[in-house]
Amino acid sequence: MVERNYDKSLWIKTTGIREWKDRSIHYNRCESTPYMALKELFKRYKLNKTDRLVDFGCGRGRVAFYVHNRFKIPVTGVEVHDTTFDEVLNNKASYRHRFQDIAAPIRFEYGLAEHYEIEPMDNKFYFFNPFSIKIFKKVVGNILHSVKRNRRTVDIILYYPMPEYKLYLKKSTSFKLINKIRVPEASDSREKFLIYRLKDLNMA
Ligand SMILES: C[S@@+](CC[C@H](N)C(=O)[O-])C[C@H]1O[C@@H](n2cnc3c(N)ncnc32)[C@H](O)[C@@H]1O
Repeated sequence: MVERNYDKSLWIKTTGIREWKDRSIHYNRCESTPYMALKELFKRYKLNKTDRLVDFGCGRGRVAFYVHNRFKIPVTGVEVHDTTFDEVLNNKASYRHRFQDIAAPIRFEYGLAEHYEIEPMDNKFYFFNPFSIKIFKKVVGNILHSVKRNRRTVDIILYYPMPEYKLYLKKSTSFKLINKIRVPEASDSREKFLIYRLKDLNMA
């Protein structure tokens, strides 16, 4: 009920779970980050007007709409499931009809996250368990490549983090864990956000 009320306030529909028909071992099901968790995250982690967020495996777009509406920054969602992508486009039409006044773009790309070409200004990367560690490594590789070409500080935000993602970031990359945000009254200890940062050392 709470979830539906939040959806209503954004003029979108993002509730429900959708499994893949063919049970892909690499691509995970569609399920939105709970609004309560998002509220908690952004109580303690603020975005600035120069930030740009990408949600890899954006599902029906809840995180993208929430962030765009709250911080008025450019947001991109990438999604590969056909039906889910149709839903996110319907949500965008309805959301934009209501919130025409927000100048920042909100974009959705149909396709594989591992094929998304990272824009030079993208700097906040959100993951709610979208895919296997194999795909995650490819996406993080793309982020690192982009940072090499266009130096900047970037953050990776993990919700409900998979142990393999954590291990990989810790052991095989220079990303540092900078924040851990628990969701109050969560029944499951994995209901938390981990924020990793790769700092541009040339920046003050
Ligand atoms: C757990 S949902 C997360 C939804 C959204 N990020 C949120 O937090 O509300 C994961 C989504 O990732 C999508 N997905 C899985 N593998 C993908 C891939 N390789 N490229 C793009 N999307 C993918 C799934 O179809 C699903 O909609």
